[in-house]
Amino acid sequence: MVAAGILGTGAALPEKVITNHDLEKIVDTSDEWITSRTGIRERRQAGLHQTTSSLSVEASRKALEMAGLAPTDLDLIICSTISPDMPLPSTAAYIQQKLGARDCCSFDLAAACSGFLFGITVAEQFIRTGKAKHVLVIGAEILSRYVDYKDRATCVIFGDGVAAAVLGAVEPPSGMLAAEMHTNGAFSDHLYIPAGGVLKPASCETVRAREHYIKMRGNELFKVAVRSMEDVSRRVLEQAGVSAHQIDLFIPHQANQRITDAVRERLGVCAEKVYTNISRLGNTSSASIPICLDECVRSGRLRKGNLVLMAAFGAGVTWGAVLMRW
Ligand code: UT7
Repeated sequence: MVAAGILGTGAALPEKVITNHDLEKIVDTSDEWITSRTGIRERRQAGLHQTTSSLSVEASRKALEMAGLAPTDLDLIICSTISPDMPLPSTAAYIQQKLGARDCCSFDLAAACSGFLFGITVAEQFIRTGKAKHVLVIGAEILSRYVDYKDRATCVIFGDGVAAAVLGAVEPPSGMLAAEMHTNGAFSDHLYIPAGGVLKPASCETVRAREHYIKMRGNELFKVAVRSMEDVSRRVLEQAGVSAHQIDLFIPHQANQRITDAVRERLGVCAEKVYTNISRLGNTSSASIPICLDECVRSGRLRKGNLVLMAAFGAGVTWGAVLMRW
């Protein structure tokens, strides 16, 4: 069995920046409230010419370039998204075609903010068992298309962005050391989009009732998020026989700076080892961890031999963690 690791990363962000002051003009909110409750100062918003697949292709090309690979070297593409280009076919199919990744299987994965970690956990199985040599995993979201800019509880939180990682065989001790994925459907109505699916197909009524937008019971999710991310982080550390103080870098899903701070404190990881970019990008769901990862790799914050812990929590609810030696 070979060890699987990340060979290259890449990100693609829309140019347009929406600041808290911009939002103050359209909903009853304030920069002070958003900053103190979430840590967010600005987020990106895709233009109508940009799609989940177009930004994914941009991010994927960068990741492939870093890995020194061609699209034709890919055996599998997993696109984690809850904001696909369209319901059918998968966004991954468009990415495969636009990238020119011939003879390569591709599919979408819907696990919301935990999706990138679920994706690399799946990819690792394929690589370790020799079923695939190179797997491209993308976290891609254009959530602005699903955000209700009349709902102050959600429109201040979410942002757009995409990032990708190419996985392949690496020499031990590098590679994925431990990973866990979890779901609890009991909280499915705490973060959801009520209409547009089979249960409630699009109609004039669903549009009038604004049911095609994200609804979130944020306050209730907050506590579940902290507990779940702490618990799953402890579990992967334990599986790998690593203690929290041995970690070089902790990348949590960027949901809320207060969630990050609470998880970090409970785990006993010092603040300097935690990477956050939520002030610049908001919550980009499944793109948040790979964007952080790419920023850390390109800035030299993440170096060969470093131990990196990643933990996520999202709609479903889903949660998971991955421990990797870079
Ligand atoms: O991505 C993974 C899944 N998502 C999460 O894990 C989200 C976790 N939850 C959170 O990040 C936080 O709960 C939020 C940032 C969403 C909300 O913060 P909170 O401190 O939990 O606020 P709250 O929902 O308890 O609301 C407190 C007050 C309410 O007013 P009243 O009822 O006390 O008068 C809200 O109406 O703040 C009000 N409020 C706002 N005020 C100004 C809610 N949103 C805003 C806003 N601006 N944007």
